[in-house]
Amino acid sequence: MRAETSQPVHEIIATRRSPRSLNPTVAVTDQDLIAILEAGRWAPSAFNGQPWRFFVARNGDDLFAKTLSTLAPFNQSWAKNSAVLITVAAKTTKDDGSIHADYQYDCGLAVSQMVFEIHHRGFVAHQMTGFDRTQSAEVLEMPTDLTPVVVVAIGKQDAPEKLEGPAAERELAPRVRKELSEIVIAGLPK
Ligand SMILES: Cc1cc2nc3c(=O)[nH]c(=O)nc-3n(C[C@H](O)[C@H](O)[C@H](O)COP(=O)(O)O)c2cc1C
Repeated sequence: MRAETSQPVHEIIATRRSPRSLNPTVAVTDQDLIAILEAGRWAPSAFNGQPWRFFVARNGDDLFAKTLSTLAPFNQSWAKNSAVLITVAAKTTKDDGSIHADYQYDCGLAVSQMVFEIHHRGFVAHQMTGFDRTQSAEVLEMPTDLTPVVVVAIGKQDAPEKLEGPAAERELAPRVRKELSEIVIAGLPK
């Protein structure tokens, strides 16, 4: 469902959403996957620190099963039908050993750019923080200087009717957001 925006915005912003009904038979080509990772690679970051690191798993491979096992049960129930699961981890310290204070913000920007590229290429993305970070670091054998931040499911959207229970309800729910007047504390144009 298209977002009801007060002014026209970019098509991807208006139509992007985080679906859970995914078609398990659709794969993402190597070319698409590399383009999606490139989009993340070229995100801006504080001092160009680029703290993001990606663990890319394709449905059917060993890393996919491991990544899926880190997800909360509700997330597993639908994300098992995604074509790709990307665990985004961050390097929390800079090369000089000091703390990378902006790593969460920077990773969010990289994921945001990937989400745009994913939707631009006709797929859908669904971000998840409902996963076990300790288990993720363990099963993905992360170096100790990395900390897991988010898992992104990529897939092809399927019919909402294929879902059941709370997932089906959320899939069909209207898209809602706070009003601009609630989030713009000062300076909202009349
Ligand atoms: C950081 C982050 C974490 C999220 N974690 C989950 C999650 O664990 N499980 C889930 O089903 N959706 C998760 N979501 C999806 C949000 O619920 C969704 O983006 C929000 O309801 C707005 O819906 P929309 O993306 O379709 O506009 C997450 C989204 C973000 C950005």
